[in-house]
Amino acid sequence: MEKVVIVTGAGRGIGAATAILLASQGYAVCVNYRNREESAKQVVNTIKQQGGSAFAFAANVSVEADVQALFTEVQQQYGAVTHLVNNAGILFTQSTLAELSVERFNKVLITNVTSCFLCCREAIKQMPNGGAIVNVSSAASRIGAPGEYIDYAASKGAMDSLTKGLSLELAERNIRVNAVRPGFIDTEMHADGGEPNRVQRLSPQIPLKRAGTATEVANSIAWLLSDEASYVTGTFIDIAGGK
Ligand SMILES: NC(=O)c1ccc[n+]([C@@H]2O[C@H](COP(=O)([O-])OP(=O)(O)OC[C@H]3O[C@@H](n4cnc5c(N)ncnc54)[C@H](OP(=O)(O)O)[C@@H]3O)[C@@H](O)[C@H]2O)c1
Repeated sequence: MEKVVIVTGAGRGIGAATAILLASQGYAVCVNYRNREESAKQVVNTIKQQGGSAFAFAANVSVEADVQALFTEVQQQYGAVTHLVNNAGILFTQSTLAELSVERFNKVLITNVTSCFLCCREAIKQMPNGGAIVNVSSAASRIGAPGEYIDYAASKGAMDSLTKGLSLELAERNIRVNAVRPGFIDTEMHADGGEPNRVQRLSPQIPLKRAGTATEVANSIAWLLSDEASYVTGTFIDIAGGK
């Protein structure tokens, strides 16, 4: 059976690295994106140049109708989804909890958690026994991100609980559900959080004294999806340089 994977938020950063790596391992890849069409098309071009199979699809994965359209399109182009990477996520500028608005808090939860729920739900309607899901959580779920992004940390904590619960619900179908929890990874997300050089500033506090790369996260995601991880479910890989 062909391995068919959707990587959400795959136009740049960790999602892009994951899509390119999985394509090189023989997956047919749907590169989901929200706004950055050119960037997503570039990821697809890279995959095709390397002999892989991919297409880009615009969907806001926090919107139910968009997620249904995404899964319908993938099924029509490639057949049933066999693997899923819930990678799409956002954070906003650094702030204490006292300064957070309800609108911001809800937007972070909807984008980071509701999207994960929706994509899991649609995936398991199609997925054969033996499929696998990886959720991209964060070290923030352990650390709490005080003074920076408690809303974001809470969304990733919810993602961890979803990972655990769903892994148990799907164990009888041999669909494995795991998560990675990256720490400081050198991507453009930190600029969105208001501090482009955050990774450099915080590197000295990381035991391995450097930021991680998107490829280092992609490697763990690919392993968790693979048959090499066939007895691994409901668990978390911390990719945080020892932090
Ligand atoms: N970088 C880190 O240090 C770090 C650490 C821990 C965890 N993570 C997690 O790793 C994941 C990827 O992070 P990254 O650093 O690669 O971030 P990034 O460069 O900002 O990429 C995130 C991608 O998510 C997409 N996205 C956001 N909201 C979306 C939505 N509603 N629907 C579809 N796509 C959406 C964006 O798409 P568009 O560009 O098309 O808008 C963007 O390409 C996130 O879940 C993040 O929380 C990152």
